[in-house]
Amino acid sequence: MGVDVWVRRPGSPLAGVGTWDAQALAQAGEGAQAPAITEAVAGPAVMVRVAETPGVARAPFEPATGDVAARWDALRSEVLSCTKCALHQGRTQGVLGVGPRRADWMVIGEAPGAEEDRRGEPFVGRAGHLLDAMLHAIGLNRGTNVYIANVLKSRPPGNRDPKPEEVAACLPYLMRQIELLQPRLMLAVGRIAAQNLLSTDLSLGRLRGKVHHFGELNTPLIVTYHPAYLLRTPADKSKAWEDLKFARSVFRQLTDRVGTDGDLS
Ligand code: URA
Repeated sequence: MGVDVWVRRPGSPLAGVGTWDAQALAQAGEGAQAPAITEAVAGPAVMVRVAETPGVARAPFEPATGDVAARWDALRSEVLSCTKCALHQGRTQGVLGVGPRRADWMVIGEAPGAEEDRRGEPFVGRAGHLLDAMLHAIGLNRGTNVYIANVLKSRPPGNRDPKPEEVAACLPYLMRQIELLQPRLMLAVGRIAAQNLLSTDLSLGRLRGKVHHFGELNTPLIVTYHPAYLLRTPADKSKAWEDLKFARSVFRQLTDRVGTDGDLS
């Protein structure tokens, strides 16, 4: 069984918003139940199925067991000392991720930039500040309830796109993170993350506005713009806001069902 989500193409309350004002966005989101704008959807409304399996159900909060904590620690040290691709030669350090190890939400970006490479934490530069504001607008915070990672753990020189061999070398680390975290919802920010996670070459515009499923647990995965792109193209912030509201409504439906049914089967 799945959850029905109506997806329609509303006029955005935020069209023309030049900066990402988290508070304004949060207020604009109140009562805005109809979720996503999607370039992939023709016509005024379509229905999508959110969850086909019980994969997203789990107890509200369980501290990581000793074994899980040890596996996280092992993963972190492997990433820090990784030499599986040439990027290790130019990086300051490998960047694993940030956030609680039992977060329900997981955000996945592309690769560390200069500031992330220096500080050892994803999304701490300008794009990171925008990402934090976007997440804040839907009640998420890297300190409490969202885990943030990248496809690549080492910085590509000049922030160029990752090469296929770099992605191939690094993806197993991300797979282990996802397996350990078992997020209820994944948000891929940007084309590189979306295409690599979904093994597709479809454009970001075609991937937005629908619920994809990832991996053996069929974890719901939603796609939106990369914050660095939004800094360059502020006119698209309103579309990103639609994506975030969509993700929030999907998450609420998933967790409501867990609350009432005990599972999602
Ligand atoms: N862009 C990304 O995709 N990831 C980061 O960590 C920083 C910028």
